[in-house]
Amino acid sequence: MNILITGISGFVGSYLAEYLSEKFSDASIFGTIRWRSRTENLVALNGKIKLIECDLKDFSSVKLALEQSKPDYIFHLAAQSYVASSFHAPQDTLITNLTSELNIFEACRALKMFPIVQIAGSSEEYGLVYETELPIKEENALRPLSPYAVSKVGQDMLGFQYFKSYKLPIIRTRAFNHSGPRRGYVFVESNFSKQVAEMEKGIVPPVLKVGNLSAIRDYTDVRDIVKAYWLAAEKGEPGEVYNICSGKGYAISAIVEMLQKLSEVKIAIESDLSRMRPSDVPVLIGDCSKFKSRTGWSPEIRFEKTLEDILNYWRERVPERISTKTSVS
Ligand code: GDD
Repeated sequence: MNILITGISGFVGSYLAEYLSEKFSDASIFGTIRWRSRTENLVALNGKIKLIECDLKDFSSVKLALEQSKPDYIFHLAAQSYVASSFHAPQDTLITNLTSELNIFEACRALKMFPIVQIAGSSEEYGLVYETELPIKEENALRPLSPYAVSKVGQDMLGFQYFKSYKLPIIRTRAFNHSGPRRGYVFVESNFSKQVAEMEKGIVPPVLKVGNLSAIRDYTDVRDIVKAYWLAAEKGEPGEVYNICSGKGYAISAIVEMLQKLSEVKIAIESDLSRMRPSDVPVLIGDCSKFKSRTGWSPEIRFEKTLEDILNYWRERVPERISTKTSVS
């Protein structure tokens, strides 16, 4: 069995590669990386995966990657995934996320390959959701509130269209927020944890910089998410779309409170206007009964444990404070 993971050096990609390499010791796992990709997340995978240099925005590069890997399964995880950044660079977000996926589909067609393709959509696609619509089901209206969310709606629809038009076996997932150690420091739970680790080491004053604390998100541990991605590919129905979530909502203010309890220092809160978005999704709480009944998946790791693991991850990485005093001998 050949498996191709785009974005293998990223947060989710590296966990998925670890999970699949343990589950299928005889599988060949390939991953696309760019020449400038950071590979520290792949340390544990040394010798277990094959990396292919590939720019997903370049059709010939994608075609070559498919020719080299001859995948039975493609997990398409590579994306510009930071919502806030999509407001600053909307064009780049749309081009990166849509072109990359289009190139994968077109390369499959050009090579007459029919691998199962899992498309990593997002709960952000639902965007503005009304109280009466909670918890969110797959049939809910899509009202995206950021260029990132629009790009994910586009990816989602493209997956549907290529399934219908060309019978490519595409399975779309809409994962709600997911986290764990290695999570990029720009995302809220990781950013706040990193700030706390820096406060504990005395690098920054004990004042947590925050944006919108009223938003509510549905968190699942990344180690549960990658199991879901495999099950989606193995047991999902091509052409269908599945929510993947825990079904439990946390206000961002609750994350602050949890970190205050875990912290070794007393933390004050400071609002930072630069962390606010032109529009923010107020609430995302999902219903993944469709996915559960199809695959038997259920998340196992509680968010409290995920958050503690992220904090410990940063505690191990944040350097000790460098003394500014110079000693004269
Ligand atoms: N990043 C960040 N930094 N967000 C903050 C901060 C802060 O200092 N303070 C408050 N927030 C709020 C944001 O405004 C948002 O409402 C919420 O915290 C979560 O923000 P992010 O962690 O950046 O994640 P996201 O929900 O916008 O998007 C993530 O989840 C999506 C799935 O729903 C990303 O992982 C996306 O790629 C993913 O598709």
